[in-house]
Amino acid sequence: MRANRRRVAMLAALVSVLACSPADEPPPGTTPVADSRAGAPGIGDTDFPQDGNGGYDVTHYDLAIDYTPATKRLDGVTTVRAAATQELSSFNLDLTGLDVREVAVDGSPATFSRKGDELTVRPGGVIGEGAPFTVRVTYSGMPKPAKDSANLGTYGFIPTADGAFVASEPNGSKTWFPNNDHPADKATFDFAITVPEGLTALANGEMAGQPTTAGGKTTYRWREGHPMATYLATATLGKFDLRTGTTATGIPNLAAADPKYKSSLDSLYTLSGEITDHWATVFGPYPFSSTGGVVDDYAAGYALENQTKPLYGGFDPDETIIAHELAHQWFGNSLTVKRWKDLWLNEGFATYAEWLWSEHKGRKSAEATFQELRKRPENDPMWQYPPGRAKPDDLFNSSVYTRGGMTLHALRKEIGDDTFFALLRTWAAEHRHGNVTTEQFTALAERLSGKELDALFDAWLHQPRRPA
Ligand code: ARG
Ligand code: ZN
Repeated sequence: MRANRRRVAMLAALVSVLACSPADEPPPGTTPVADSRAGAPGIGDTDFPQDGNGGYDVTHYDLAIDYTPATKRLDGVTTVRAAATQELSSFNLDLTGLDVREVAVDGSPATFSRKGDELTVRPGGVIGEGAPFTVRVTYSGMPKPAKDSANLGTYGFIPTADGAFVASEPNGSKTWFPNNDHPADKATFDFAITVPEGLTALANGEMAGQPTTAGGKTTYRWREGHPMATYLATATLGKFDLRTGTTATGIPNLAAADPKYKSSLDSLYTLSGEITDHWATVFGPYPFSSTGGVVDDYAAGYALENQTKPLYGGFDPDETIIAHELAHQWFGNSLTVKRWKDLWLNEGFATYAEWLWSEHKGRKSAEATFQELRKRPENDPMWQYPPGRAKPDDLFNSSVYTRGGMTLHALRKEIGDDTFFALLRTWAAEHRHGNVTTEQFTALAERLSGKELDALFDAWLHQPRRPA
């Protein structure tokens, strides 16, 4: 069906090219009219206009990467399977730096051009609306991480002493493979990562077969079979000690630690298992096929909830941060923001999970934490920054985390524990492996509670002042 539509479209395109009279061409010296069949260079997130692309939906990424830490050189072949959402005479992928050697669409050579972080691909024929297609990009070079002044620090593919630390939120996956770099387009992933023998490569999901070694190099194959946002993809590699097994409920669990953090390996393994199992009792079934975590020797100043394998940057992770990153597996990874402005749906929820973990352990209650934060003076910056609209130049402001978490506690007090925890589980179940917005959450909260909650959400999420 779809292939047929495509053939028809290509035929139509051919006919229109043949039928093109000189009158259709812009007079010499004028700017040609933009081709309406060109895919847009952004997915439509007005805060990040260049991020992602229009005109297609990715279903799967197949990444083959060979990385040599000694030279910092990466050789890659990325194959993207997608479906066109419009007729496409050309389309973009996001890619920063690196040299593109060859692009093929459905196995045939395509022409391409680069401008900034946009790789524009022009296939031999027009791709019909709805048609599936594959694009294979062969590239190489020395990946450079993104360094952002807007409080994002260093992210993307970051070379380390023994390998690479790969953490790409919000838009750093384009530093190591060509893709549709926006969370609104999730896809499944296959990875084949080749490294010098003796190193370990850790990507998302589960190992697809045992690593194979030839000619002094080892290839690790991983597969993430659940939809994943590009910012959650990782290929962290280097020297690692590993511990594998299953959680008490039987979820495969893998902990990895750089030798410098060997002493964290057992606690990371044990806590990741215990916390994953606990969150499944609170938020509903674990959304993925394995859990765990990775501690690498790179002082990123943050951790990232990489799908199935949160990455901790250069510190011994404690229970609180493990509880946070694993809560993201539900809130952020299974349920992914459609627009970055709704980031409190990730960070407010994961922060609230920290407070829930403490409460679960019989330590400080969420109410005690809430009351303490509530006392912050009126001029505290948190009250000026409404967390319901994360700012593109200050995405990870602590208000998105803390006041976002407080929003959930205020909601819990308003609708009661039973409805609140049913809401968390229903939210996670109804949007499992999908994309979400704040409006969908507030609508569900009103539906389940039977209460009008506009005033509560407005005061907590949208007003630049301390709620009364
Ligand atoms: N989502 C991460 C966390 O909650 C933070 C990622 C920060 N990213 C960055 N580029 N600074 O721990
Ligand atoms: Zn977080």
